[in-house]
Amino acid sequence: MAYIVDMRSDTVTKPTKAMKHAMVNSALGDDVYGEDPTVITLQKKVATLLGKQASLFVPSGTMSNLIAVMVHCNKRGSEVILGNLSHIYKYEQGGAAHVAGVQLTAVPNNPDGTFDLRDVEKRIRGSDIHEPITSLIAIENSHNVCGGKVIPLDWLDSVSELCKKHSLPLHLDGARLLNASTHLQLPPERLVRGCDSISLCFSKGLSAPVGSVLVGSYHFIEQARRVRKMLGGGMRQAGVLAAPALVALDEVAPALALDHKRAQVLAKVSKAGSYLCRKM
Ligand SMILES: Cc1ncc(COP(=O)(O)O)c(C=O)c1O
Repeated sequence: MAYIVDMRSDTVTKPTKAMKHAMVNSALGDDVYGEDPTVITLQKKVATLLGKQASLFVPSGTMSNLIAVMVHCNKRGSEVILGNLSHIYKYEQGGAAHVAGVQLTAVPNNPDGTFDLRDVEKRIRGSDIHEPITSLIAIENSHNVCGGKVIPLDWLDSVSELCKKHSLPLHLDGARLLNASTHLQLPPERLVRGCDSISLCFSKGLSAPVGSVLVGSYHFIEQARRVRKMLGGGMRQAGVLAAPALVALDEVAPALALDHKRAQVLAKVSKAGSYLCRKM
């Protein structure tokens, strides 16, 4: 029997049997009232995993990033500095400008997903009233458009030092943070040590059908909860969606190392395949 693997995206997965079972059997409550026990368990678990105080379950990675931008840049006319190949810049419809009146200033991404920090430093604005207010630096790890590259740890530490030097918060679009931590064989907490907020997705490579979490301090998440409601992302018995995300953390994330090995084999085979095709 032919076995077809759909390689378009790591989002075209199906929930596992355990996920479906958890969706049907988990305890539920109204999460807009903060009363869904399954959502609460997920939020606590992810905050602990990332070494931060709190987290918030949201419907998508796009909403998670937008909420982060809106909380950090709470004045219209603020500015985010980020890579020109980042998902926030390329693929989120300029939501920051569209919805929040926030300007996105892009610096060129290097092929490894990093960008030149001297370039960023030159662009951080001062108090000139002609200019927007630089309010956030945003990075991505692993880097989707750069081919799933995992950002080197020393660069992560340098960007966080730069942010501290200029009293700027640092947001990480960590849609695939667990892939990065698996690759580096380091706990996710270490990779986000210098970040003030992190977005992590369950529907990318982890088989869960829906959902992301935004992670940060108690104060940040309190404000994020308000913005989520305003954007229409307040969900009621959201435990049906948090339940498969919990299974993703417990049962799928530990298998990512195997996924990476398989991806390497496929990459080699497809390189050889395209070489043979060119020869024919
Ligand atoms: C790096 C990155 N961030 C954010 C997103 C947005 O996630 P969603 O599709 O859940 O809105 C994606 C989607 O592929 C992504 O690759």
